[in-house]
Amino acid sequence: MHKLSLTSEISVFSNVEELDADRQILLEKAKIAAQDAYAPYSNFKVGAAVLLDDGKDTIVLGSNQENASYPVGLCAERVAIYSAVTQYPRTPIKRIAITIISVNKDIVKPISPCGACRQVIYETELRGQQDIELILQGDLGDIYVLPTVKGILPLMFDSSFL
Ligand code: THU
Repeated sequence: MHKLSLTSEISVFSNVEELDADRQILLEKAKIAAQDAYAPYSNFKVGAAVLLDDGKDTIVLGSNQENASYPVGLCAERVAIYSAVTQYPRTPIKRIAITIISVNKDIVKPISPCGACRQVIYETELRGQQDIELILQGDLGDIYVLPTVKGILPLMFDSSFL
């Protein structure tokens, strides 16, 4: 028997001003997207801004969309990514910024994409044949920048199993 150790590297920024202008702009767009989230059941508004690798810095927004039938709602990340790949099916995604507006309490750590969204981001990396950088922000506190979702999706499931 031997043990495997799984590690991931995250760059931690203590405020938005520490990020470069491009990343700040993407986070601002994600915050704007969060304002339009439809989240009457959780009051937890998530915004995502996807930056395409198209040489034109095209940005596609998404926000969580809830439903009285709870499980049929969709997270902001998947709304943004599916919208981006629907409109630009042959363009890889370079980066995604994810942030929140929480009505009930201040979230003092970065939003953490759910497992399903991590799986979708991973599939989108494979599809675009390049890593997607993640920028994660809460209401307050540190901002995390990850070079790829793979660091937070250990033992990923992909088509190699099929
Ligand atoms: N949600 C997202 O949109 N993204 C995440 O990363 C975590 C959770 C949404 C789903 C639901 O509408 C609300 O936040 C509360 O779970």
